[in-house]
Parts: sequence; C-alpha cells; structure tokens
Amino acid sequence: MNRRYRKTIIAGNWKMNKTASETKVFLDELKGHVGRVKWCEVVVCVPYVDIPMALRALKDCRISVGAQNLHHEERGAYTGEVSAEMLKDLGVKYVIIGHSERRQYFGETDSLVNKKVHAALDAGLRPIVCVGESLEQRQAGITEELIVLQVKAALAGVPVEKMRQIVFAYEPIWAIGTGQTATSEQANEVCNLIRATIRKMHGARIARAITIQYGGSMNAGNAYELLAQPDVDGGLIGGASLKVPDFTAIVNAANQEQ
Ligand code: 13P
Repeated sequence: MNRRYRKTIIAGNWKMNKTASETKVFLDELKGHVGRVKWCEVVVCVPYVDIPMALRALKDCRISVGAQNLHHEERGAYTGEVSAEMLKDLGVKYVIIGHSERRQYFGETDSLVNKKVHAALDAGLRPIVCVGESLEQRQAGITEELIVLQVKAALAGVPVEKMRQIVFAYEPIWAIGTGQTATSEQANEVCNLIRATIRKMHGARIARAITIQYGGSMNAGNAYELLAQPDVDGGLIGGASLKVPDFTAIVNAANQEQ
C-alpha cells in the first residue's frame, strides 16, 4: 500500500452467496465492526437481488455497495440482464468487471470487458477490473504478456480523465478458492506490472493514483503481509468475506503504517 498516493480498498465479492434476509443479518453485524473505518474503503459486492437490502442496511455507515457484473448496453432486449444505469440509480458505487469466473463460465472476452468498463464509467460507477493468469499460463511463462494484454484491452478508449475511477484487481486464477495464495512477492510483482502498464499508457501521476488490489485466497492470516507490499493497495476477497470475523480481520490488517 501507499496511502500517500492512493486509497486502500478492501472489497468482498460474495459471488452467488446469501439471500436478502441473510444479507441483512450479516451486514447489521459487519457494520458494528467496520462501519466507521477510515483507514480504507470497505465495499461489499453482493448479488443483484441483495443490493436494495444491502443499501438499506448500510445507509448510515461508511461501507459501500458494489455489484458483481453489469450488461454493457444502456437498455434493450437483453432478457435477464442489468444495466449500469439501473445499478447507479439504486445507489451502487462499484462494479466488478471481468472476474475470471465470468470469463471462464460465461465466455466474457477482453473486448466485452472493455465495453463493460465504458458502460460503468459512463454511468458514474467505479469498475473493479479483474485480470489474472491460469496455472498453465504461469507455468508456460506468459503471465507478463497476458496481464499487459488484459490491462491494455480493458482500458482501450478510456480517456485519461476517467482513469482515476478505475480500480484493478490482480486475481491469479490458480489462487481463487483454492487456499493457495500467491506469495506476497508474486502479488506485488504483478500489481507493479499493472501499474507500469498504466504508466506507459497514461503517465506516472495517473499510475501512482490507481488502486490495485490482490485477490485469491486472501484471509485473516495472510492479509497483513500481502497489504504491506508497496503495490498491493487492497484486497478482493471471496470466501473470507462471507464471515464477519474474517472480513473484519482483513479490514483491520489494512490499518498499518506505510
Ligand atoms: P477467494 O478469496 O475465495 O479465493 O476468491 C477470490 C475472488 O475470486 C474474489 O473475487
């Protein structure tokens, strides 16, 4: 982290977990622990149907609400889909884009990710753009090329004045839900590469202002060391964000001197 230049963001990605009633119970408890935290931005990215309940439960505290996806068109005949404007109108602040599970199970491509980034920015939502390599890609030695490609593709056509709205999340696929976390050096190396790529595109001032999270089996035990890395500015947390003590411990791990 480097709090001088950028905001630390700890975000939970609930994936397809928790009903609306469970959301209320969970967030009523969570806000008692981290609802007033000032050292980082705390976000919960909940399923679409839980968003109204989450916003209601969190209205009097500092925790923000995010979505996990959106459709890239403004409106129209896209049965079952949700637009950026619909999310913005509810009061949603963040939206995860290009999570590896969406790339893998729903065929999302780099070019679709780019369209979604534009849709989010146009509506005034902050995209959390996920990039990351599979185990085969890491073993083949192409992590660097792949990450640079994913970052460049996601940012195609994004004007420099909107860059500060974007958050990146480095999520190595082999570390997601596996309990196998990247080492803090591996995490920092790729977060640094993402920043270097942004620097080449938009210059040093923008690059150093962008929050870059790590995601993949981050938990109460490893969060402190990961967040102590200079280019790791937060976490995108799956499993551990579903339990109040674990998520609270990660938020507390972000309260460190830099
Ligand atoms: P886990 O923390 O469960 O590994 O999930 C990470 C993730 O995919 C967050 O988006």
